[in-house]
Amino acid sequence: MKSYLEMSREELTAERQALEAEFAEIKTFSPDLNLTRGKPSPKQLDLSMDMYDMISSKSILRTQAGTDCRNYGSLDGIDEAKRLMAGFMDCDEDQVIVHGNASLSIMYDTIARAMLHGVLGSVPWCRLDKVKFLCPVPGYDRHFAITQYFGIEMVNIPMTKTGPDMDLVEQLVSQDASVKGIWCVPKYSNPQGITYSDETVRRFAALKPAAEDFRIYWDNAYAVHDLYEDDRDELLSIMKECEKAGSQDMVYEFCSTSKVTFSGAGISAMGMSKKNRDDMLKQMSVQTIGHDKIKQWTHTRYLKDMDGVRAHMAKHAAIIRPKFEVVDRIFSEEIAPRGIGTWIRPKGGYFICFEAMEGCAKAIVAKAKEAGVELTAAGAPFPYRIDPKDATIRIAPTFPDTEEMEQAAKVFACCVRLVSVEKLLMKTL
Ligand SMILES: Cc1ncc(COP(=O)(O)O)c(C=O)c1O
Repeated sequence: MKSYLEMSREELTAERQALEAEFAEIKTFSPDLNLTRGKPSPKQLDLSMDMYDMISSKSILRTQAGTDCRNYGSLDGIDEAKRLMAGFMDCDEDQVIVHGNASLSIMYDTIARAMLHGVLGSVPWCRLDKVKFLCPVPGYDRHFAITQYFGIEMVNIPMTKTGPDMDLVEQLVSQDASVKGIWCVPKYSNPQGITYSDETVRRFAALKPAAEDFRIYWDNAYAVHDLYEDDRDELLSIMKECEKAGSQDMVYEFCSTSKVTFSGAGISAMGMSKKNRDDMLKQMSVQTIGHDKIKQWTHTRYLKDMDGVRAHMAKHAAIIRPKFEVVDRIFSEEIAPRGIGTWIRPKGGYFICFEAMEGCAKAIVAKAKEAGVELTAAGAPFPYRIDPKDATIRIAPTFPDTEEMEQAAKVFACCVRLVSVEKLLMKTL
């Protein structure tokens, strides 16, 4: 198969004609598929339904320590839940606070607190002229939405195959005291599926920030979301590395069971140093008397420990792995040999990130929509929704079934080819 980049104008014109016919044919059966959000499929949600068989009106909803989960109290969560979530974050259970169903709310609250009250006694960010956050790109759109909402200036940091560009991170963090944080998705990153290397994690732990209230916002959302049991990425524990480096106050870690049990009804947690934890609990005690302990109780009875979590995640992987693989196969057949796009084959997480030729992403997303395939808006994985190269498209394969995913990947490949041919023809004008 010939690369489009090597084709003559005549060859490209003939290719365009054939693709236009193919596209017209697709439009006649308009598939109506939605690949926009990284949601678990109903089959994945069904996996955890038996969790509710563990609870009935006869259940004694007490913790081992005797706490009645039906009543007020336990601001930082029940011990069993702290232990479970410490396993997700590879930290000690006394470093954990268990929260409600969404880790995103904890991230929002953490930024809101820093804005209003500061971090460990530092000046509240709302009183500063400028507050900046580093944003590895492409990244998670909802992270960027939080910082944008609070008027925090976002600075793009390019991602590499081993994590964010650490030379740039070190330079900006050490020289600019208005840099107060960095968003990180360190394992199976959203959207590229990259896991930070040991060296990257150690360089994070060794950062020497100009701002005393600089924090690493370590969103370990995909800590246990491996696609292959025998080939999983390993991530160093940032909390342990920070402890070794004496920088334990520099990191806040987040995680949840949103994509383990139920996205709308799981538990979330935050891991941090004693100082940070005390500071946070002081502020939290004004906000709530405690989170939902019955949910914490059911989750810990059901998942038990990290072995239980891994066994449960293997069932998720069996459902979603074929969907990732079908995308990889179709892209390998239809796109790679033509030289018109690249992607990383992830070993876990929820996304595949496609890099089109520069200036093509918006047009591909629009074409796919015309053909009945809804994709995440081009630009969404970037601060302010601006992709400087207009090249990145996030694909979320988990929700549709495998046949639908195959159909959608074929439509997508046709759109990529058509838009790329048009782009190349414009260039040869
Ligand atoms: C990186 C990342 N963090 C957080 C979330 C949301 O987590 P939660 O459901 O715990 O709020 C997502 C969901 O897609 C995500 O991709």
